[in-house]
Amino acid sequence: MEREGVLVIGSANMDMVVYTERFPAPGETVLGKQFAMFPGGKGANQAVCCARLGSKTMFTGKMGNDLFRERLCRSMENHGVNLENLLIDPAEPTGVALITVDGDGQNQIVVASGSNMKLSAADIESKKALFSAVKIVLAQLESPLETVMASARLAKGNGCIFILNPAPASPLPHELLQLADFLTPNEIELEIISGMPAADPETAAKAARSLLNRGVKHVIVTLGGKGALLVDQSMEKTFPARKVAVVDSTAAGDAFNGALAHSLANGAELMEAIEFANAVGSFSVTRKGAQSAMPSLEEITAFIQSNPME
Ligand code: RIB
Repeated sequence: MEREGVLVIGSANMDMVVYTERFPAPGETVLGKQFAMFPGGKGANQAVCCARLGSKTMFTGKMGNDLFRERLCRSMENHGVNLENLLIDPAEPTGVALITVDGDGQNQIVVASGSNMKLSAADIESKKALFSAVKIVLAQLESPLETVMASARLAKGNGCIFILNPAPASPLPHELLQLADFLTPNEIELEIISGMPAADPETAAKAARSLLNRGVKHVIVTLGGKGALLVDQSMEKTFPARKVAVVDSTAAGDAFNGALAHSLANGAELMEAIEFANAVGSFSVTRKGAQSAMPSLEEITAFIQSNPME
């Protein structure tokens, strides 16, 4: 059987979003503007991104047996994600994220993981047949670390490309870094994982290089409005971002990762895949919400044509 598509292993959350002119200081109350509920969760968002772009996409994760699961499943299935391997934990609530988005479109997120943290290494091992059917395995860190490790081992043991989006960041074991073909932190995540400053492109490049020395094959740092930085054994290259009006930056990293996985699954060269992922990330910040911000192939093609690089 020919391998095809992307397996996303990770979280799904119901996002409760308040749009506000500015974030409150600790202990302060501010009056916000609108409230909205959006399907989210890093894993689910990345899966929706891949599926919207046209990749055959399977998602494995764990939800509770509640209304949020029904709403999240509906969104993912409507966008074309295969949920045959979704697991349910009736004893835990489906994950929830409390998000505030300020007037500049920046976000702050707190997640109550619920069932997402019950996705076990044994659950993933029970799905090992999936790994011989896909080209790419994409994981994040909203699942237990042992589960991510099990996913990485099965991915590499079965000849898949393993992409780890290390969000939210935590220090990572050496073995996991060695199993990662692509590690895609933002600057804050890179600082936590490398233990080095990474606030600007120069320090970020140094910090990324330290992870190559620990076994990662390619580090791609997402730099928000500054684009993305690739550091691997053969090069160090910055990919500038398009200038767009930022409405809501939630899930911009998920858009980048989903699009990267989609492109690599469809045979794109790495440079082309990063340029495309950069464009999809930029597109996503022009729309509100997480899964609702992911473009179809037609939408991103039109966006790229009407927003050429300067
Ligand atoms: O990356 C954005 C996502 O982070 C949100 O959808 C939220 O659910 C959290 O997982």
